[in-house]
Amino acid sequence: MAILGIDIGGSGVKGAPVDTARGELLEERFRVPTPQPSDVGSVVEAVAEVAAKFTGYDRVGITFPGVVVDGVTRTAANVDKSWLDAPAARLFSERLSVPVSVLNDADAAGVAEVAFGAGHDQRGLTMMLTFGTGIGSALFLDGTLIPNTEFGHLELDGKDAELRASDRAREQEDLSWEKWAGRVQDYLRHVEMLLSPRLFIVGGGVSKKADKWLPLIEVRTPIVPATLLNNAGIIGAAVTAGQAHGHPGGFPVDADQPS
Ligand code: BGC
Repeated sequence: MAILGIDIGGSGVKGAPVDTARGELLEERFRVPTPQPSDVGSVVEAVAEVAAKFTGYDRVGITFPGVVVDGVTRTAANVDKSWLDAPAARLFSERLSVPVSVLNDADAAGVAEVAFGAGHDQRGLTMMLTFGTGIGSALFLDGTLIPNTEFGHLELDGKDAELRASDRAREQEDLSWEKWAGRVQDYLRHVEMLLSPRLFIVGGGVSKKADKWLPLIEVRTPIVPATLLNNAGIIGAAVTAGQAHGHPGGFPVDADQPS
């Protein structure tokens, strides 16, 4: 049976059944706006609305834009604070009546990119960074996820990095591509100084416009745009749910072996 992947984002909750062996959507995805406020009850209902569009799945993988440990959401930088310490996997699983795995959104996108996209067969340390409402990070060593890194919250120029270099900061401050790329470059240089990754993969909505800003960035580390774009979170969530074999919660993912 298929696995449903659902991606909870800052503006939309999107989902589709996934072929987890190929990393492809089996049907067109369905999207509803993220409820505002994005409290636990409202988001659980939005997820249920997306899930109700599909049939024929026996487990669900869900992304969340914060730290997720053993199915419990631990941080809520860009969502309602009711998510702090919420038993998310249990709540979703009770509402959807199937086993549910929940993982961080950037981790999910990274799992998909490492299994099927820009990070495929990459050895050593690979770092996926998503630039959207916040900055998400996912770190892989030889294809294995080190979950729940939060490098979007490094301090840059005395501020939380995501407040200066996320795509939301670009939009809110109406920054030119040059100006924003300068901030992203400062951020990436800081990250490479700390971690020396072999590869940066940049994702999030803004990676669709990579031609506008990626050529402006000079860092030592090779840097490539994500290739699965909008669907990476959905695919990575489903792959992870497949690997969890019905046990809700956060699992270290061996993304080289999608089931
Ligand atoms: C959160 C991360 C998340 C990122 C992207 C950050 O504010 O702390 O957990 O991955 O935003 O949504």
